[in-house]
Amino acid sequence: MSNYTHIFRGTAFSSNSPKELQILENHLYCINEDGMIEKIVAPAEDDYDILLNMYEGKDNFHQLAEGQYLLPGFVDLHVHAPQWAQSGTALDIPLFDWLNTYTFPIESKFSNISFAKRVYEDVVSTLLANGTTTALYFATVHKEASILLAEICAKKGQRGLVGKVVMDNPEQTPSYYRDNDTRAALVDTEEFILAVKELGESVKQGVYPVVTPRFIPSCTTEGLQGLGELAAKYDTYIQSHCSESDWAHQYVQERYGKNDAFALHDFGLLREKSVMAHCNFLDDADADLFVQTGTAISHCPISNAYFANSVIPLAHFHAKGVDIGLGSDISGGFSPSLFDNIRQAVMSSRMLEDGVNPALPANERGVRDARITVNEAFYFATAGGGESLSLPIGCIAENYTWDVQVIDTKIPSARLPIYDENEPLHDIFQKMMYLARPENIREVWVQGEKVHSR
Ligand code: GUN
Ligand code: FE
Repeated sequence: MSNYTHIFRGTAFSSNSPKELQILENHLYCINEDGMIEKIVAPAEDDYDILLNMYEGKDNFHQLAEGQYLLPGFVDLHVHAPQWAQSGTALDIPLFDWLNTYTFPIESKFSNISFAKRVYEDVVSTLLANGTTTALYFATVHKEASILLAEICAKKGQRGLVGKVVMDNPEQTPSYYRDNDTRAALVDTEEFILAVKELGESVKQGVYPVVTPRFIPSCTTEGLQGLGELAAKYDTYIQSHCSESDWAHQYVQERYGKNDAFALHDFGLLREKSVMAHCNFLDDADADLFVQTGTAISHCPISNAYFANSVIPLAHFHAKGVDIGLGSDISGGFSPSLFDNIRQAVMSSRMLEDGVNPALPANERGVRDARITVNEAFYFATAGGGESLSLPIGCIAENYTWDVQVIDTKIPSARLPIYDENEPLHDIFQKMMYLARPENIREVWVQGEKVHSR
């Protein structure tokens, strides 16, 4: 029998499929030195007692206490790390004004490395404390500060996928916050890719560079073309914003005579490793192109309530076979918690299904079959995010990474309302989804290493 680095014993919840929650009651989870789940053993199996005899009482045996449960760590598919500095502010104005009067000014301050360090240390720690074990980050246009963000993820033990943002279009970006020119944007991006790839070689949980055109309006045609070529040359991840709001969607139609999806595809920016934020205004042909190219949607439900002018028909795109994960979109979304985004994803979908204008008759008010369940939202926050990134993350299952959060339902300051000793585990799961707060997250592990505890 293998020599395991850690063994955990307790009850875990994980997504088997979008609709189906798997409950592993009182199982053993055997973690190897690479931080992978090598074996999961059910109480009825012969190995269970053998392993208990071998490991119980040792330092590397972790028994979950009564009222504690394991969940996979969350995969946040869309975070603007610098915008943590303005989270919760300025959400009462439209996207274009928000970018130009708040967001570009704050992001421009990340030319200052010591300011960047303060904010980036905080945002990575905050996301870990909220159970986010993998994050797909936009940094800023500044190469050095973007590399620093990858270094901070590496140091704090978070799996970070980080992009130096490209904004080389002088017509849609302010003079104080843009790449010097297209050539400089591409040279900086290439140097950034090489630096983060090299860093990643010695990081257990992995850090990865991401080619990051902010969105089509911020970039020139030559810039977008060059970024597609760099992504192909280095086989990197790609991220951007896609068909987010009426304004952004219409801008691209006017400039290229097509929707974002087909325009991005022309530049080689839709690939298996592409993740596009928002995507509210995709049409069916766009969604089919996402399926063909393996591009994923990062659904950001809180942010969408402020900036997207619509609720995305997520269930429809999912039924078509598009990969989907959840994003906080800090600070378009104010919350660093994917629990909050799970809740909003379910609520927004219910409002899309029923409709929101009471002046209309019920049969004209909404969009049929638009709702998603809490199990599906949990799937998007975990396994769906992992599939979107093509990484073995987001599930508590053999051959996946040990990226987990230990939820304590009995924390005195945030005790969940569980009064029946025999409450069905599926009900406890739902209470955790709707009521868990950061206080309930006792421990967070990434790739077999403890990265947060309280
Ligand atoms: N579109 C371009 N930049 C941004 C951004 O920072 N946030 C959001 N929500 N949309 C964008
Ligand atoms: Fe965003």
